[in-house]
Amino acid sequence: MLPLSSFVGEFFRNPATVGSLISSSRELTDKVTESIDFNEAGCIVEYGPGTGVFTDILMQRRRPETVLVLIEVNRRFAQLLRQRYTGQPNVHIVHGSADETEQYLRKFEVERVDYVVCGLPFSSLPRRLGWRILEHTQHPLQPTGKLILFQYSLQNKKLFNRFFRQLSEAHVLLNLPPAYVLVYEPIGEKEE
Ligand SMILES: C[S@@+](CC[C@H](N)C(=O)[O-])C[C@H]1O[C@@H](n2cnc3c(N)ncnc32)[C@H](O)[C@@H]1O
Repeated sequence: MLPLSSFVGEFFRNPATVGSLISSSRELTDKVTESIDFNEAGCIVEYGPGTGVFTDILMQRRRPETVLVLIEVNRRFAQLLRQRYTGQPNVHIVHGSADETEQYLRKFEVERVDYVVCGLPFSSLPRRLGWRILEHTQHPLQPTGKLILFQYSLQNKKLFNRFFRQLSEAHVLLNLPPAYVLVYEPIGEKEE
C-alpha cells in the first residue's frame, strides 16, 4: 500500500480525478462489496482502484477463475497496482480511462461483466466524460449485472438514472468524506 502521504500527494497533484484526500474506509469497502455474489461472479471490473483498498478485498473473496479488470487513469497508482497484482491469475491491470472500457474488455476477450465497482468522482469529472464512462459500463454489463457506485454526493443521480435503474442507496458515515453507496442494474431494452 502507498503511504498515506502518497495518496494525499496524488490528490494535490490531480484533485479533480483523485477526488478524495485519503483512501476509502473498511466500513465503505464492506458496504460496497456486500452486493457482490462472489460465488457467481465471472468478471468484476473496478474503475479507479487507487491504492487498491477495494482490490485487496476483491482479490481475497473472488474465486480464482473470476476475471478482475482494474482500470486506473493515474500513472502512479497504476504502477503500484502492477507491482502488487501482476502475475495473479485472471487479473488485468490497465493504465487508462474508464471511458475506454469496451476496448480493454475486447483485448482481454471478456464478453460480459457481472459487476462494476466504481468510486470515480463524477462531480469533478467533465460531464461528457462521465456520460461516456456510463455508456462503456452499460453495454458490457450482464442483464443480471450490477453497477456499484460510491459517491460523496447525490448530485449525479439523474445522470446515473439515464443509464441504469437504482436498486438501493446507503449512506456510510464512517468514511472521510462520508459516502453514498448506490447500487444499479441495467435498464431492460424495452424501457430504454
Ligand atoms: C475517490 S478515488 C478512489 C480510490 C480508491 N478506489 C479508494 O476507494 O480509496 C478515485 C480514483 O479514480 C481514479 N480515476 C479518476 N478518473 C478516472 C478515469 N476516467 N478512469 C479510471 N480511473 C479514474 C483516480 O485516479 C482515483 O484513483
